[in-house]
Amino acid sequence: MTEDEQKQAAAKAAVDYIEDGMVVGLGTGSCAAKMVDLVGARVRAGLSITGVPTSEATATQARALGIKIVGFDAIKRLDLTIDGTDEVDGQRRLIKGGGGAHLREKIVASFSDRMIVIAEAKKQVAQLGVFKLPVEVIRFAAPALLPKMAALGCTAEMRRAANGDLFLTDEGNYIIDCDFGRINDPEALALRLSTTPGVVEHGLFIGYADIILIGTDDGVQITDA
Ligand code: A5P
Repeated sequence: MTEDEQKQAAAKAAVDYIEDGMVVGLGTGSCAAKMVDLVGARVRAGLSITGVPTSEATATQARALGIKIVGFDAIKRLDLTIDGTDEVDGQRRLIKGGGGAHLREKIVASFSDRMIVIAEAKKQVAQLGVFKLPVEVIRFAAPALLPKMAALGCTAEMRRAANGDLFLTDEGNYIIDCDFGRINDPEALALRLSTTPGVVEHGLFIGYADIILIGTDDGVQITDA
């Protein structure tokens, strides 16, 4: 199976969890985009759901597919969120934010009864940290936070867009990508980052994912809480 086929298989398995009338968080990234396409197909076939997109990109895609989307002005809770990941370990801990959407992704997941994570096989890791941990920071604080992140034991760099400009998130913030190589204590690091003024949100998702669906050559591997 190619990585693309693995993503497609995981996305298809996730969409089977969606039932009529649900409020569904729609993740961001290439795997999530496949899921949104499949949701669109089910909506065209008669499924009635309400989507909460986790990024402007996903909102645009969902709108184009005819999926009804709302924000927190219209709903209080979500039944389910389906999203991709950059890394997942054996304890269902994640690194997300490779696409820069982890702030809205974490908010949406936090208001969801269940979070289903979908990915290709290579996203499974024994230890988090090979993928650079994205840390969203307010622009004012960024010059001060760059060395502060490095002092945590990583190589820290400002994320740049393809045109060389500093990358701006949907909320108008910057991202510092932190290369730890390996993260020995994700909980302690998450707490440290969450209590650092100027950090808006980091990409460690601990205690969020309920079900992990990984596309593999032997079918979709399911890890359930
Ligand atoms: C978006 O910011 C991310 O959290 C994505 O969900 C994550 O990077 C996975 O994306 P891919 O499926 O494109 O690898």
